[in-house]
Amino acid sequence: MNAANAAPRRVENLHTDKGKVPVYATGIVEQPWDGYSDDDHATWATLYARQRELLRDRACREFLEAQDAMGMTPDRIPKFAELDVALRAATGWRLIGVEGLLPELDFFDHLANRRFPVTWWIRRPDQIDYIEEPDLFHDLFGHVPLLMNPVFADYMAAYGRGGVKAHAIGPEALQQLTRLYWYTVEFGLIDTPEGLRIYGAGIVSSKGESIHALESPAPNRIGFELERVMRTRYRIDTYQKTYFVIDSFEQLMAATGPDFAPIYARLAAQDSLPAGEVQAGDRVYQRGSGEGWEDGGDV
Ligand code: PHE
Ligand code: CO
Repeated sequence: MNAANAAPRRVENLHTDKGKVPVYATGIVEQPWDGYSDDDHATWATLYARQRELLRDRACREFLEAQDAMGMTPDRIPKFAELDVALRAATGWRLIGVEGLLPELDFFDHLANRRFPVTWWIRRPDQIDYIEEPDLFHDLFGHVPLLMNPVFADYMAAYGRGGVKAHAIGPEALQQLTRLYWYTVEFGLIDTPEGLRIYGAGIVSSKGESIHALESPAPNRIGFELERVMRTRYRIDTYQKTYFVIDSFEQLMAATGPDFAPIYARLAAQDSLPAGEVQAGDRVYQRGSGEGWEDGGDV
């Protein structure tokens, strides 16, 4: 039962922080595990094996160890209920099945209550290398493992509470908070004794970006600084022009602990920054060559 024949019900096509994407019904669905086809399991197996190989020396240790600890394997699409046992014991999180991207407030509410929404369907074989919207592989392989890490798990729940708050403050606050999510949860890098490593879900679930994020001379790699990140626009249609590097999950948690209300107010009076520009005061790990970059298209 893949995306094509299950036809999730699209309720509207919206321009969101993730670009122009379908927003789906908000309901929670039981993972229809018995309905996955052999092709679906094969897609999972292919992607899982390929990414694990690529990520062995590229993803952070916490990510790789968590995948093993939760019992994610290439053999078959995992059952949410089985992963939940390990997750609940480690950090109190659990998974809920959804049709796709949720309206922002629903998403924040789930995170605040330690429920991580996972798209139940997996991409078709012809979408192995690229799919526009999050599917099961992105959500489960990419996002779920770090929910086993106590500090990162707390960060995600705090982000959910922060989202509810930002939503009430207004669209600019929400945009700034979304940039933080983008440059950490989706496209974050972490500095380790072995060198820079990947922790962002958008990177670990992409073959091309797993290599690009660490090895390409094109992008900037800059030390994480909260307000700098919240001002920085981003790309949804190309690899990132800039990656922000944290020193540890503890650093990320500490930096995002304070009340954001005064930060939102302060940033409202400042311009946003282009995705690819190095700023005075940046802690630069690598100044990107910018090769292959297109102009325009920052979100
Ligand atoms: N501290 C933030 C606030 O007051 C919430 C938050 C926590 C946001 C962690 C992101 C990550 O809004
Ligand atoms: Co994602």
